[in-house]
Amino acid sequence: MKKIILCALLVSVSLVAADSQVARGAVVFEKKCSLCHGEKGQKTALKDSVPIAGMEAGKLARILRAYQAGNIDIDGELSKRDSIIMEHQTLELSWDDVDAVAKYVHSLK
Ligand code: HEC
Repeated sequence: MKKIILCALLVSVSLVAADSQVARGAVVFEKKCSLCHGEKGQKTALKDSVPIAGMEAGKLARILRAYQAGNIDIDGELSKRDSIIMEHQTLELSWDDVDAVAKYVHSLK
């Protein structure tokens, strides 16, 4: 019984943590991303790029970190990207900001 209660507690704590990360991501997104990617991540920033809403969070975080690092080609995902604009947008984001905004964007539809 104790174990079950402990498990339930741990699950609810991590759910709250995930929620607050998404909330933090929403703040970052509104301030730093929505101008070009749209309020709901629905716009295409460039003619040939895709709307980012719903993108898998791990992939998005990898892409953002690669932009931060000056377009180092991680997993071949960035080989054809022009990163100057996105490098500027991501330079000031902390590690946690990147994870948070990635989770928020993933939650958008
Ligand atoms: C000043 C406009 C601008 C802002 C602000 C901006 N972006 Fe971008 N973003 C772009 C452009 C332009 C591209 C396409 C760049 C390229 O081709 O590599 C892009 C590309 C991306 C991509 C890759 C999309 C794809 O095609 O796979 C992601 C992910 C992304 N941005 C996320 C973000 C996030 C998250 C933020 C906020 C931290 C942000 N962007 C802020 C203009 C912007």
